[in-house]
Amino acid sequence: MSGCSAVVNLVGVLNATPEGFREAHVELPRKLVEAMRADGPARLLHMSALNADPGEPHSLYLRTKGEGEALVHAAIEDGLKVTSFRPSVIFGPDDSFTNRFAGLLRLAPGIFPLACPEARMAPVYVEDVVDAFVAALEDEATTGRRCELCGPREYRLRELVEIIATTAGLRRRILGLSDALSRFQARLLQHVPGQPFTMDNYHSLQHPSICRENCLPALGIAPTALEAVLPHYLGPRRRQALLATWRASRLHH
Ligand SMILES: NC(=O)c1ccc[n+]([C@@H]2O[C@H](COP(=O)([O-])OP(=O)(O)OC[C@H]3O[C@@H](n4cnc5c(N)ncnc54)[C@H](OP(=O)(O)O)[C@@H]3O)[C@@H](O)[C@H]2O)c1
Repeated sequence: MSGCSAVVNLVGVLNATPEGFREAHVELPRKLVEAMRADGPARLLHMSALNADPGEPHSLYLRTKGEGEALVHAAIEDGLKVTSFRPSVIFGPDDSFTNRFAGLLRLAPGIFPLACPEARMAPVYVEDVVDAFVAALEDEATTGRRCELCGPREYRLRELVEIIATTAGLRRRILGLSDALSRFQARLLQHVPGQPFTMDNYHSLQHPSICRENCLPALGIAPTALEAVLPHYLGPRRRQALLATWRASRLHH
């Protein structure tokens, strides 16, 4: 890191073994601040998550994220200039949230069983997250802050999945599962390759992923609405473009 002016740590895993969570969310930040103290830049931008909390009893994702965030902020006492970011779920082209639901909805035969349909979240656009990092990098007054990042609106998960289905041109009935069935689905799907839904995800979803104080406006960024962006990568025109590319590649071969 010598010669660098700042470190941006984006490393994270949503599904892992307990050791995997610790390695990515706690041990890596520990090594990072040790290296920065020894011979590195003083400025650290660290990606955390909304509801990250070292005292979280159930979700290892949130607990280890909270431990890592506490650890990097403790390094401020040694002179490091640390700002952390706590986004709600992030959306954008190639995300693993809206695209994953669109993919699962395409496979669903008319009815889509949805776990935790009442979970609350305020999806934030990836470009806004990037702009927040850039703004904070240039503003050392954000040192010590834990910046919450949210989109302009709060949704229930059911509503979001309905919006994703409509935007992708899919007519599906969303069947909200009860709490017991949501747990059952998580226990089942965590053994499917790719782990589309796990008990750890279930526990994370029990906390509303919404901001108490959204940092975006304070950083001079107007939060972008999901509905303004989603049609550009999930909408029918996008699908037609993909189909045309696929047909062209078949002709070529
Ligand atoms: N996406 C969201 O909705 C969301 C919401 C809140 C917070 N966040 C946080 O934002 C960050 C980026 O998320 P993302 O959605 O962009 O995830 P992502 O695409 O999976 O990126 C995570 C990155 O971490 C790296 N990584 C994972 N485990 C590692 C390890 N043990 N050692 C070194 N590198 C490792 C991955 O490298 P490889 O590609 O080589 O595996 C990848 O580059 C994460 O910290 C995540 O927790 C994301």
